[in-house]
Amino acid sequence: MDTSQRVEGPRVGVVRERNDGERRVALVPKIVASLTGKGVNVVIESGAGLGALIPDKLYTDAGATVGDPWSADVVVKVAPPSDAEIGKLSTGQTLIGFCAPHNADNKIEVLKSAGVRAFAVEAIPRISRAQVMDALSSQASVAGYKAVLLAASESTRFFPMLTTAAGTVKPANVLILGVGVAGLQALATAKRLGGRPTGYDVRPEVADQVRSVGARWLDLGIDATGEGGYARQLTAEERAQQQQALEDAIKGFDVVITTALVPGRPAPQLVTAAAVEGMKPGSVIVDMAGETGGNCALTEPGKTVVKHGVTIASPLNLPATMPEHASELYAKNVAELIELMLVDGKLAPDFSDQVLADSCVTSRSELKVAPGGKH
Ligand code: NAI
Repeated sequence: MDTSQRVEGPRVGVVRERNDGERRVALVPKIVASLTGKGVNVVIESGAGLGALIPDKLYTDAGATVGDPWSADVVVKVAPPSDAEIGKLSTGQTLIGFCAPHNADNKIEVLKSAGVRAFAVEAIPRISRAQVMDALSSQASVAGYKAVLLAASESTRFFPMLTTAAGTVKPANVLILGVGVAGLQALATAKRLGGRPTGYDVRPEVADQVRSVGARWLDLGIDATGEGGYARQLTAEERAQQQQALEDAIKGFDVVITTALVPGRPAPQLVTAAAVEGMKPGSVIVDMAGETGGNCALTEPGKTVVKHGVTIASPLNLPATMPEHASELYAKNVAELIELMLVDGKLAPDFSDQVLADSCVTSRSELKVAPGGKH
């Protein structure tokens, strides 16, 4: 190749995450090598990958340099930026990462006044073409898997059926409430562990997906299909009907994993205190919706508590507990978004593209953000 013709591509800076417990990193060496091959110059902050057990050397071997990521054209992150981090950015810079637009301490206005062009991965539309950039989905998959492992580890019972000389143990009955991305992965994981999974959702269209991973479908006769593949909020009457029906159904389950979400709303309450009381002591609930208030009335977000003999866990950042693969998937999502902004090797986002228009939260007057949940 004639290198004199080579276009000098944008600089992409990879930040070391500083949030408590955040072990993910926005780019991994394999993805750095692929971006570098396309003319992008990647600079990583020293130690950026250590939480995911990736030393600087692997990044430099992949073509990155170690330096100040905050002066790059595009700064890539995982966790929403703190005020101090936004203070390191200047007008005209681009930021890609989670921006938690539904959180009380919404940073979008701060980013706007700093003149930063921020792309929130939560705002990537859930359309087929953007699936490869959908970080909410990639991270929800990790979380759905990990929630089941957590439930198995908290449980006083086996997941699989065991036939031993000392007797036969029945497989665990596992109920997954809400069968979106996290829920489907949770069903598949519970099945792989030898449990007997059942899925429930207010969108009957997911029944076939539930069955396709070898799980049963629980039909409570409520259809609350909303727009864009999401559920709508239930009416008060539907909610009461659902809570009563679940109260009866939940008694028969050893493990309940809740993942129900309505975009931009507090988590719907599916599991009442009475439903918890009706479960056998030793049963486990993992409430994945703690970030938006929880799907269970007795959930204490971020904590594991025991109520009426039932363990209720509400971990808030499960993907960070699997930093290696969570980072690998996230990095692919981020790199695809960067590549979508490249025209002839230069950074030139075309805002007539729906993916870029929707996800660039600092250039929108009205937010079009999908779920309010945690990454
Ligand atoms: P999703 O939008 O793909 O799925 C949510 C599902 O809930 C949908 O299928 C929807 O139809 C269903 N739903 C809504 N209202 C319902 C109701 N009243 N009854 C039954 N089902 C109902 O969301 P995704 O990406 O799977 O995330 C699920 C949850 O997990 C969210 O709350 C998200 O914030 C949370 N999450 C938590 C993490 C953690 O570390 N704790 C990590 C990733 C996601």
